[in-house]
Amino acid sequence: MALVVDPKRDEQLAWAIDFLKSDQPVALPTETVYGLAGRVYSDLALGRIFSLKARPHFDPLIAHVNGVDMARDLCTTMGDIELELMRCFWPGPLTILCKKSSRVSDLCTGGSPLVAVRSPADAVFSKVISLVGEPLAAPSANRFQGISPTSYRDVLQELGPHGLSAVVDGGNCQLGIESTVVKVNCENKTLEIWRHGACAAEHLDLFAVERNLKLVNAVSVLDEKSAQHSPGQLAKHYSPTKDLIFVNREWVDSVALVQANRYKAEDLFLFVTLADFEIAKSMGFAEAKRTVVLGKGKSEAAAALFKTMRTFDADNRYKRLVSFAPSLDGVGAAIADRLQRAAVK
Ligand code: TXA
Ligand code: MG
Repeated sequence: MALVVDPKRDEQLAWAIDFLKSDQPVALPTETVYGLAGRVYSDLALGRIFSLKARPHFDPLIAHVNGVDMARDLCTTMGDIELELMRCFWPGPLTILCKKSSRVSDLCTGGSPLVAVRSPADAVFSKVISLVGEPLAAPSANRFQGISPTSYRDVLQELGPHGLSAVVDGGNCQLGIESTVVKVNCENKTLEIWRHGACAAEHLDLFAVERNLKLVNAVSVLDEKSAQHSPGQLAKHYSPTKDLIFVNREWVDSVALVQANRYKAEDLFLFVTLADFEIAKSMGFAEAKRTVVLGKGKSEAAAALFKTMRTFDADNRYKRLVSFAPSLDGVGAAIADRLQRAAVK
């Protein structure tokens, strides 16, 4: 049985710190999703994170810090642009790929010379980093390719049966979708998005334009073999155990219409925003037996996405979830990315 820690009680938080200091991973809340944390500088702790998640070693971990100074220890050199990104977007849902220092092991980076660094905004996570006194590696606290957890109960469902020691209860995650991962490419004068996430491309674009950089999309969808050369881009991810059908942005065309219509009588239809639902109504989809709208707008939708997928998975009334891509502005790109990968069998 995993211990559930109330972070408002100092004596309980001290148990979590003791676990971390003795290299036992502990699940912690962040503003994006819950993470499974362990000391970055301990290969023992990192090894335990990989095995608890059943995650292959080629998929590297994000190192979480408490601001820029702690980030410096993780990197050999830090470029001006990386530094400015940190100053503009931290604490918050932006992960920056930097050149790793020799203190960071290959186990953390999957053998890559780059380390992913992020300073989370969540007060509890930040307090835990201060109390441990060093950076914490933390992948999302789900089993490999599973649905990311946005509450401590989700974490218990994912990792409880696999030997998790403790989870800190920080309530529901505010953003509900993972951080955006970026890399500065000085040669090409580009800022590359490696994973869409809670930091919207529009904000990064403003940052890039002011510095004569071009924001480019470096996100790809790879099978397991190719992913070993470009981690984090696996096609299948965030997956419910049941079938999830993803109707892409061309869902207004007749092919998608026919496909989705086939399931109208028996399955659950998921629309990301109210606006998507309005379009669907005009096309007859709203007559589907059961529909769910994730949120009025995209931020509300992102916060509800993983929880809704998890609830659907456990609901015997439905065989499939038919989901429709939102428009790709704001966090729409991240939501579409998650749904697309969740649909891969
Ligand atoms: O919001 C988040 O980022 C959450 C919370 C807990 O901070 N963490 C998270 O970690 O989503 P994880 O491990 O589930 O996803 C990290 C992503 C993966 O796609 C991984 O491959 C990529 O970041 N990544 C990590 N280190 C990398 C590296 N050195 N090079 C390229 N990609 C890297
Ligand atoms: Mg993950």
